[in-house]
Amino acid sequence: MPTRLVSGVKATGSPHIGNYFGAIRQMVSLQVAHECYIFVADLHALNSVHDAAALRQGTVEVVTTYLAAGIDPSRTALFLQSAVPAHAELAQIFGSITSLGMLERAHAYKDAVAKGKEANLGLFAYPVLMAADILLYKPDVVPVGKDQQQHIEIAADLAGRFNHLFGRTFSEPHGIIPADVATVPGLDGQKMSKSYGNTVGLFDATDVVNERVMKIATNSQRPEEPKEADTLLALHRLLGAADLSEVETAYEQGGMGYREIKERLAVNLNAFLEPFRQKRLELDADPAVITRILADGAERASLVANATLKEVKERVGLLA
Ligand code: ADP
Ligand code: TRP
Repeated sequence: MPTRLVSGVKATGSPHIGNYFGAIRQMVSLQVAHECYIFVADLHALNSVHDAAALRQGTVEVVTTYLAAGIDPSRTALFLQSAVPAHAELAQIFGSITSLGMLERAHAYKDAVAKGKEANLGLFAYPVLMAADILLYKPDVVPVGKDQQQHIEIAADLAGRFNHLFGRTFSEPHGIIPADVATVPGLDGQKMSKSYGNTVGLFDATDVVNERVMKIATNSQRPEEPKEADTLLALHRLLGAADLSEVETAYEQGGMGYREIKERLAVNLNAFLEPFRQKRLELDADPAVITRILADGAERASLVANATLKEVKERVGLLA
């Protein structure tokens, strides 16, 4: 039997290269050997996006990103979280066995509140819905970025707790977090994140990319001097373009100024982003394609999700 994979990305805004290198790229390469369930976490996004047009747009952008990145809908069930109601139902059931202490320790919640986000119940209960997202599919792997590690641990904890109370139903999921690209730096050197405004968007236009790259802060070494590893080098390494070894040599031995390093990065980034832009134009021209893909994906995901939910209901004693 092929091993199963589940993963999702929140529809909170336009995806960036951190999302791609940190999470989506792994999904794409793993889909060949796995039975995959990949979704847009639109219910999760609703915790912070309270504008219908923005949520709709964010949702379409994540679907477009998946497709542009190489998720193949004939192989992978691609769907919206809200289109498979078993996610919300299982989250409600898990809520009954989740201790508040565990949720209070969740970094993502603490960080969000520290940054002044509204402390609503959905945000607090985020790991419970995420555990339901995962465990419904009884996956073998859950590829996510490093910042999601704690959420995976909470899901494993809930799986164990459920099994202990109601009999063995779930095995413990684990994340696949590639060591080399665990965290993509943003333009200011912090982790790249929509909430820091330091991203390169996967659909950004050429002139936007050029302008953003030129603004990356650098040290003051002269062209002939060697340079310390920095955000520019990290982004060059991620892209792995044909001129990478020249750029690496320039850092080790000197021989290239920051201006040229930036110009090369902008060229490489634009070449990398071009297929994303093209796919977006193609899908924007025929939105019915996305509608069909999502309907088909939801149907396939529901088969698995509903079977797990039925089993859970029997275990806990719900008669419906
Ligand atoms: P953001 O921080 O921009 O809101 P999300 O929380 O929506 O990003 O993350 C979606 C996925 O992308 C997650 O699996 C997350 O771990 C991954 N991810 C986000 N930012 C980065 C980054 N800078 N480097 C690596 N992976 C990232
Ligand atoms: N929490 C993840 C993020 O912020 C998105 C997500 C929601 C997810 N449910 C999931 C990822 C289930 C993997 C599996 O990016």
